[in-house]
Amino acid sequence: MTLTRRKTLALIGGGTLFAAGAGGGLILTRAPRTADAPWGLAGTYDDPRLRALSYAILAPNPHNRQPWMVDLSRPETAVLYVDTSRLLPHTDPFSRQITIGLGCFLEVLRMAALEDGLAVSFDLFPDGADAAALDGRPVAVCRFAPTGASPDPLFAQVLHRRSLKEPFDETRPVPDSALPPLIAAAIHGTRVGASVAPDSIAEMRALSHEALRIEIETPRTYRESVDLFRIGAREVDANPDGIDFTGPVFEGLAAAGLFTRQSALDPDSTAYRQGLAAVFANTDTAMGHIWQVTAANTRADQIAAGRDWVRINLAATALGLGLQPLSQALQEYPEMAAPRADIHRRLAPEGGTVQMWARLGYGPDVAPSPRWPVEAKLLES
Ligand SMILES: Cc1cc2nc3c(=O)[nH]c(=O)nc-3n(C[C@H](O)[C@H](O)[C@H](O)COP(=O)(O)O)c2cc1C
Repeated sequence: MTLTRRKTLALIGGGTLFAAGAGGGLILTRAPRTADAPWGLAGTYDDPRLRALSYAILAPNPHNRQPWMVDLSRPETAVLYVDTSRLLPHTDPFSRQITIGLGCFLEVLRMAALEDGLAVSFDLFPDGADAAALDGRPVAVCRFAPTGASPDPLFAQVLHRRSLKEPFDETRPVPDSALPPLIAAAIHGTRVGASVAPDSIAEMRALSHEALRIEIETPRTYRESVDLFRIGAREVDANPDGIDFTGPVFEGLAAAGLFTRQSALDPDSTAYRQGLAAVFANTDTAMGHIWQVTAANTRADQIAAGRDWVRINLAATALGLGLQPLSQALQEYPEMAAPRADIHRRLAPEGGTVQMWARLGYGPDVAPSPRWPVEAKLLES
């Protein structure tokens, strides 16, 4: 979540080292051992469905909850379900964002299967869907069939794609010429807008900063994030999801008792103040913004938004451009009503739902985020 985290990760490069804890003692710190293994295992499975799924689990998704579950019991078919124990009821009360993440998953699945000469057709919510809540009904029945269609060039970026949660380089403007390829990457019917104009950057920095402040100062929405903090390599390996903090600095702070889920909740603590400064360093260094709007807001629209979102993220990766979603102002809980109305007035003046809003810029290379292995996401048949 912070510059320190990512820099530290890069520094230790997956190795082991000793760091002095804030308490003065020497403590052993290490990088996670298993949490990033799925990035190396992608594509190594015999069953073509599993091979495609091993890439799909690398898709972006809110708070890295990885809420997907898949049934492979029928031949040439994968049935996608949502794990309803992995929703975000406070910040995502209607599971709109969770559904977008499932759309990202399906698009990566489609691209990966195409590499094997397989087309995937999706029957979305075949037993119906509730606009207010996701439930145990299937999200998509995915059928695999041979095709002569060409692979998707964006697939080459799947292993390199990141959500870049670091400050961007304010000395490197994003050129206007970067925007058309990002907008063109959306092929599933969502309307994409983007701007790198200085006035717009300044206004959107302020709006995203304010929305983040509201989320953090609203106890139940902030707590939803803090409950998902994985602090240190041991916790990240045990639960490779949520919001991960690893590397010597965090291990040291945690060992000294200065960074715990409890201290992060205490507004008077150093952990809270530094956390706030770190997230504002992100909103406040946006060098451009990009957003997606859908005319309606059905579950199918949200899936389409996800499919286009991951494509935009992959197109940005191909350009060496960093991108981080700024979802706070889009969220549907009462305390966020004013920023939500404001962003809709600006980005969807003719109506519709802003599904994604993100900042653009150039930032450091970062390690991939943790993932559960694909095997952990298969339903028993
Ligand atoms: C619908 C959606 C909303 C997201 N919102 C945010 C956000 O507000 N802030 C953020 O830093 N990342 C956000 N993300 C990115 C996820 O945190 C990220 O995909 C996840 O942690 C996995 O990391 P990765 O994308 O680098 O693989 C969002 C992703 C999706 C799909």
